[in-house]
Amino acid sequence: MAALCALAIACARTEQTANYDVIPLPQQIEVNESAPAFKLTASTVIAYPAGNEGLERDARFLSDYIGQLTGNILKVTDSAPEKDVINLRADLGGDNPEAYTITVTADAIEINGSTDAGTFYGVQTIRKSIPEAKKSDILFPAGTIADAPRFSYRGAHFDVSRHFFPADSVKSFIDMLALHNINTMHWHITDDQGWRIEIKNRPLLTELGSKRDGTVIGHNTGVYDSIPYGGFYTQEEARDIVKYAADRHITVIPEIDLPGHMLGALKAYPELGCTGGPYEVWQIWGVSEDVLCAGNDSTYKFIDDVLSEIVDIFPSEYIHVGGDECPKTRWKDCPKCQAKIKELGIKADEHGTKEEKLQSHVIHHASDFLASKGRKMIGWDETLEGGLAPGAIVMSWRGEEGGIEAARRGHDVIMTPNSYLYFDYYQTLDREKEPDAIGGYVPVEKVYSYEPIPSVLTEEEGKHIIGVQANLWTEYIPTYSQVEYMELPRMAALADVQWSSAPKDYKKFAARVPQLINHYKANGYNYAKHMFNVSGSLTPDMENHAIMLDLSTVDSAPIYYTLDGTEPTASSTQFTEPVKLTESTTVKAIAVRPSGNSELFVDSVSFNKATSHPVSLINEPHPRYKAKEGVTLADGKFGTNGYGNGDWVGFIGKDMIAVIDLEQPETVSEAIIRTCVATGDWVFDARAMKVEVSMDGNEFTTVASEDYAPMASSSNSIYTHNLKFEPVEARYVKVTVQPENIIPEWHGGAGRPGFVFVDEIELN
Ligand code: ACM
Ligand code: ZN
Repeated sequence: MAALCALAIACARTEQTANYDVIPLPQQIEVNESAPAFKLTASTVIAYPAGNEGLERDARFLSDYIGQLTGNILKVTDSAPEKDVINLRADLGGDNPEAYTITVTADAIEINGSTDAGTFYGVQTIRKSIPEAKKSDILFPAGTIADAPRFSYRGAHFDVSRHFFPADSVKSFIDMLALHNINTMHWHITDDQGWRIEIKNRPLLTELGSKRDGTVIGHNTGVYDSIPYGGFYTQEEARDIVKYAADRHITVIPEIDLPGHMLGALKAYPELGCTGGPYEVWQIWGVSEDVLCAGNDSTYKFIDDVLSEIVDIFPSEYIHVGGDECPKTRWKDCPKCQAKIKELGIKADEHGTKEEKLQSHVIHHASDFLASKGRKMIGWDETLEGGLAPGAIVMSWRGEEGGIEAARRGHDVIMTPNSYLYFDYYQTLDREKEPDAIGGYVPVEKVYSYEPIPSVLTEEEGKHIIGVQANLWTEYIPTYSQVEYMELPRMAALADVQWSSAPKDYKKFAARVPQLINHYKANGYNYAKHMFNVSGSLTPDMENHAIMLDLSTVDSAPIYYTLDGTEPTASSTQFTEPVKLTESTTVKAIAVRPSGNSELFVDSVSFNKATSHPVSLINEPHPRYKAKEGVTLADGKFGTNGYGNGDWVGFIGKDMIAVIDLEQPETVSEAIIRTCVATGDWVFDARAMKVEVSMDGNEFTTVASEDYAPMASSSNSIYTHNLKFEPVEARYVKVTVQPENIIPEWHGGAGRPGFVFVDEIELN
């Protein structure tokens, strides 16, 4: 007896209070503080109407989620008790099949959906309202939630061609989508780097087309790992994935990307190409000029054969046929393609070239075939070129322009603009500690800020925007763990954009993220942590020849910092207002929260004679890479790797000529510049540097100059150039940096001009 008692005390359960401010944010939440809460304990049961399989499945999911989070394993039953019950229903009615309400009283929680899909989203909201995974009972505040998604199409795209992810990883991806109320997985299963779906009437597609002999290292460096790479899904596995997704109210839309992005298929069936091959499954990234031959009747037969099996595996209303990035180089030279153009009577006009219209013919063929099977076609925005079949859906990726044009022409549109929703882009400007990525910069805040219905559309046109999707291209994402890292928590911001109609408030959104992160932790997800790091700015104060340091966090968590290089702790100086820096300094800072400290913020300023003095640029920088022009070049800040991160000023086709005004005569004897090189992006090192000095700003005398050899190989790196000269008195110093104006032979851009990027000019 005594032993039992002691056990009872030891086992007394802690309690947590549910918080309904989840992600995505429900449309309407009313909490009644004065009414008694519902207490979920191990004795609570989950009830569904007898014989309703969909709701029984929803009930079992809820039981699993609650068990995982609280340790309370709830019984699932079709005979509901009066009290201590979570009731699942699906008779809410209304015209949105994904709508649901939740009603919480002391006796029961009722989740009622328009359909069992709606109930499923109610289940997700209850799940996510549990603050964290720990053995406890849960108090659910009394009240009501009424919710329905803003968009009916809520997608996440997953490229499994560039890198292959086994079926279990795909299921894990689907679970991650369910947590975010996402209802569509756009599955990119074929591309130049591998064909990944079994097609029984074309066995070589997987036998040969799913394998490549190696993979390029880095950004098309010309160096390969020579490790055979491959993988594909059998039809049985694909069907199993479709069912797994459907159980979670997620539709899988397959993409067979055509007529470009087809080297996987061309390797298997070279007769489908304009030249007849032979072709290799690509080991590099980019856009191949070898595509399906549009003049070859067997190409159309191939499309039909593949799509007929695809529609059999995938019951989705929409099938994606790609249509992006299809160069017309081969078609222009191919007698069969040119004969087809003649046969079809195709003429170039203001709607497109002959070859663009030939592509439109191929896409029409695929779209007609799908229509004959009762399906609709989705294509990337390029499918608008040369005309698109009525009823086809456009996925706008090159910004929003394609989507706007399509909506105006009466097509339904899914918005996936790369500048907001490409999750293969970097999520921080500080690239040094990041896994290598394709480029770009899409932080969580940018995703969250996205408004899918462009204001230039009329209300009627706006109705054609049926949804929003984020895309994950996996050239630089070899592991599933990195898939999670690139998706999370950007997917949280995406979920709010897709679902919620609430006015945008990033700070409020950020306040809701930690609770969702507890769910990421409960699932063992590898999520990125940048959004809660300290943000810092170092801004030149020209008047006082100082640099002002400002620090902030998205949730106003307290920040502690040091200026002496030591590691900050909660007993370091707390940041309360901008700090004036007047000498070379390394700033280190952390945000301190009950859940733990942020990553360390480190930045430094380096003072030299030029720092915080006016710099004028004789030639305009490239409009996309202006940064803060002259200010950037004397802001005391060395850029980190990544020429597009705002630390660097970029020039192409003309020299960088900067005149630094020291504002009084100074003795100078050295000038140093740094360049950021990324040859894969046509960004090269300087070819020459020159230093001139002047007292009046008009008459300049050259004091040093040097030519540099052209780069002999590819590189992604920062270079330093240093010119020393006899000490000279000067008020003005002019520094000229010459870019690579003729890209060397070994490079894909041979003969064309290259960029040069400079972050700082130091004078000593
Ligand atoms: C795409 O990013 N090529 C659709
Ligand atoms: Zn051809």
